[in-house]
Amino acid sequence: MRPLCLDEYEQQARAKLPADVFDYVCGGSDDECSLRDSRRAFESWWLRPNVLVDVSRCDTSVSLLGTTLKHPLGVAPMAYQCLAHPDGEEATARAAGAHGGLMVVSTMASRSLEDVARVASGPLWFQVYCFRERAVTTALIRRAEAAGYRALVLTVDTPRLGRRMRDVRSGFGLPAHVRAANFDTGVSQALATRAPGESGIAAHAARDFDASLTWESVAWVRSVSRLPVVLKGVLTAEDAERAVAAGVDGLIVSNHGGRQLDGALPPLEALPEVVAAVRGRCEVLVDGGIRRGTDVLKALALGAKAVLVGRPVYWGLAAGGEEGVGHLLSLLREELELALALSGRPTLASLDASVLRRRAP
Ligand code: FNR
Ligand code: LAC
Repeated sequence: MRPLCLDEYEQQARAKLPADVFDYVCGGSDDECSLRDSRRAFESWWLRPNVLVDVSRCDTSVSLLGTTLKHPLGVAPMAYQCLAHPDGEEATARAAGAHGGLMVVSTMASRSLEDVARVASGPLWFQVYCFRERAVTTALIRRAEAAGYRALVLTVDTPRLGRRMRDVRSGFGLPAHVRAANFDTGVSQALATRAPGESGIAAHAARDFDASLTWESVAWVRSVSRLPVVLKGVLTAEDAERAVAAGVDGLIVSNHGGRQLDGALPPLEALPEVVAAVRGRCEVLVDGGIRRGTDVLKALALGAKAVLVGRPVYWGLAAGGEEGVGHLLSLLREELELALALSGRPTLASLDASVLRRRAP
């Protein structure tokens, strides 16, 4: 039987993927506290439904950086999707487009950003990891502009890679059939490194990612491109304030799926202070632990304009390629519509904190 919810896709992915790949996808850093807490944060809110509201039509459409989307569910940037399915990011882009959703494509994609753009029918944003060599980053940005990407998502929580113990133990590296398709073979070779007790992914990040980024780097990115810039990985009011001052167009409240600083606060917990600091001056999205329509509803009620979904998309890919991702996205969207109907909030605009009650500690 087809999975009935996102978590059931995880079970299928676990059965299909090699153990080290499953661990790379599902793992977090250190003791995986942030990974667990980000999920639990959704349980710290109860819902306060209103009854006898006409919910015969529920509208999930939303406008994001000037683009109208049918629903507020985007695909988070995730590296190396060919680990899960031979069609990798192309399958994800087809599925996201068919379901009217946004996809954020990773710098470390295993299909080139041009190939993904060629098959995509929905809006694409390009996620930027700044390389030590500025010219590498500039070239990526130019290519993303030429291929029609609509925004740049600058990931700012990864000056180094968090220590993912599962990958260190397995000596995780990219298998021969998966490569970092936006780069020449040197980068893929670094990522394939299989040394016992060393993660090839971490070795590559240590070699190539620029750990010296500051707020001036945001100004630099804005100076080299006219595309809107969205910062991914902000968790505090003070950084949100700095981001707005730096002129960003959006923020993604995220702890990188619990893969970076372990113990970093759950994105859902950080969301209200970021929304309050931003005061409507840029778009605010959130990711981390979204597994149910009611999770989406809670995130939107706390002020997010849209949410991004990470690992579940990988599970959908592993279970059934494009079809799997498409079905998974439609499940989540149907759950969101049901949650809106049952809470008496038929439009996203009718959602606010009055639908929430904080659980007693
Ligand atoms: C990621 N994430 C990520 N983020 C990013 O900015 N660039 C990237 O290349 C990647 N790669 C990546 C690979 C894999 C396998 C995972 C699981 C995650 C982080 C991702 O965008 C997002 O922040 C989290 O995955 C959201 O949490 P959930 O939905 O996975 O709980
Ligand atoms: C990850 C990197 C590549 O989270 O962003 O695995």
